[in-house]
Amino acid sequence: MTEASLPFNERYYPSIAKFSNGEIRKQESEKALKNPQEYWAEKAKAIDWYKPFSKALDDSNPPFYKWFPDGELNICYNAIDRHIKGPRKNKLAYIWEGEMGEVKTYTYYQLYREVNKLAKALKNLGVQKGDRVAVFLPVIPELPITLLATARIGGIHTVVFSGFSAEALADRVNDCGAKVLVTADGSFRRGKPVAIKDNADRAAPIMPNIEKVLVVKRTGQPVQMKEGRDIWYHEALANAGANVYVEPESMKSTDPLFILYTSGTTGKPKGVQHGIGGYLVWAYWTLKWAFNPTDEDIYWCVADIGWITGHTYNVYAPLSHGMTAFLFEGTPDYPGQDRWWQMIETHGVTILYGTPTAVRMFMKFGEALVLKHDLSSLRILGSVGEPINPEAWKWYYRVIGKERLPIIDTWWQTETGGFMISPASGIELTPLKPGSATLPLPSVNVDIFDEKGQSVPQGTKGVLVIKSPWPGMLQQIWKDPERFKQTYFGRWPGIYFSGDYAVRDPDGYFWLLGRSDEVLKVAGHRIGTVELESALVSHPAVSEAAVMGKEDAVKGEVPVAFVVLRSGFTPSDELRAELIKLVRTAIGPIATPDAVVFVNKMPKTRSGKIMRRLLKAVLTGAPLGDTSTIEDEGSIEDIKATYAELQKQIGSK
Ligand code: WTA
Repeated sequence: MTEASLPFNERYYPSIAKFSNGEIRKQESEKALKNPQEYWAEKAKAIDWYKPFSKALDDSNPPFYKWFPDGELNICYNAIDRHIKGPRKNKLAYIWEGEMGEVKTYTYYQLYREVNKLAKALKNLGVQKGDRVAVFLPVIPELPITLLATARIGGIHTVVFSGFSAEALADRVNDCGAKVLVTADGSFRRGKPVAIKDNADRAAPIMPNIEKVLVVKRTGQPVQMKEGRDIWYHEALANAGANVYVEPESMKSTDPLFILYTSGTTGKPKGVQHGIGGYLVWAYWTLKWAFNPTDEDIYWCVADIGWITGHTYNVYAPLSHGMTAFLFEGTPDYPGQDRWWQMIETHGVTILYGTPTAVRMFMKFGEALVLKHDLSSLRILGSVGEPINPEAWKWYYRVIGKERLPIIDTWWQTETGGFMISPASGIELTPLKPGSATLPLPSVNVDIFDEKGQSVPQGTKGVLVIKSPWPGMLQQIWKDPERFKQTYFGRWPGIYFSGDYAVRDPDGYFWLLGRSDEVLKVAGHRIGTVELESALVSHPAVSEAAVMGKEDAVKGEVPVAFVVLRSGFTPSDELRAELIKLVRTAIGPIATPDAVVFVNKMPKTRSGKIMRRLLKAVLTGAPLGDTSTIEDEGSIEDIKATYAELQKQIGSK
């Protein structure tokens, strides 16, 4: 999709609503940016503090902003304890549906009991304030319970998506130095048990810091329990005592709450570190502005808690509002291709926060499967993770939303902690445009820059930047403040660089146009091409590798690897299969290359850098463009020949 084809002028006014032109949030934003101290001090009253803060923001050492610096609180207290003191005590906090159709529910009081038991069990294992607890769990209730119990005792959680490989798990656990790992024997996927503990066991010998492993029994499949290291979760809880109470630690607002690893353009994944107070205030208000939660809602965010969307919008934001959240284990197309619609009907889901990849998949499955179900409980549809193309948006609006419900397309990142650009339904109702995330939320000071750091005019594509601090922003990269500064504030001092392309239309609406760097979004999963490349070159046959994203009708994009072999090795289907397997082992199935293309040589610039632009042109079928910077004049013909050859190979795939 090119900028020129975007439907800048199409506006939708779903029938449930009265609309505003963004005036209210503009006023809020002006207030927030003019006087952040006053604005955020007021907003932070929605949170329970043990010790009040004297100022909202310490900006004396940018970009290391400190939110509510001398305030103290506990996020688990805010998510659970404060509700059990009032009328929400017996309200459902979670409804969970497992892959085999079983349903479990937790009232706030029941969640409180479970979290206290696990908090005690973690203490018994020696977890203290500031210790890191690694979590490698599928989406089962024990996952949010572990996050909340860790936060209750002042620990720092680091969740590793349960589909990651042993190597990827060990990299992350070693970087943050966790001493306890919480995992499960397995999980159910497409009706079959899949092992999880096996990966943890394979990683164990290369995770020297891990002293204890808590194992949730989910599938009952046989696992090896290592004496002295591995403990069954249910036994640890039983030992903790039935009605145990663990006092929530009073934490500094700026203490770290979690580390979540995410891909960037260089080296290993970055440990994005979020603090407690600012993050919670942002989680609370962004949910309020975008989705306007009520006590009647059954709110379903489909994201795995292994990613940021699950952290903020499956745990901290909905619970801090006292909402009922729905969680599910498994995949959207098993046991039937209508599993989502079935679950919405069964549980009466009112807010569905989904993804463009899922919408495109359902479009392929067809409308009939949707029409079989009563979806009248729904009042809001959300979208996240990648740009939603106007066709998918319109299908979502028409077939799921019956032209009645707003589509809340939320643009944000692991680093931003919560929504940044999004239609609102709480603060006001935003007229929608299919494919646009619309307008920045209050206090989000976004702009679009050209290469030189100048703000571009409307209609011109550039990179999205954020010009003022906001409470949900990351604190730093774990133990690497310099990398934090360089990565996000290195290009233009004081300006947060998002890595995304965007364009603004004449109404000031933002259209996100994908990544400007070497990060891929494969089915919404964030994957660094550099991680795939380093996995590929670790193979003895490979001398060079370059990975690019290729457009895909369902997943948005998929990785394609260009590989140059060392002399003595010849391309073959076996080698191709071996390389694909290698990537799966090094990272996980989500990074599986769609194609591996063997090439004789990489097109390079005179300074020896791979000409990624040229490889991209091959994938998109775009014209080659300017080749004047290639290595040496004589190689132009070679490159053209390689180009023709690559196109042939891609075409024959
Ligand atoms: C992309 C996920 C367009 C974007 C919350 C961003 C989006 C990256 C949207 C962050 C959206 C996320 N429209 N693009 N609504 N939401 N993105 O860290 O490229 O996994 O930079 O956070 O996802 O991915 P992450």
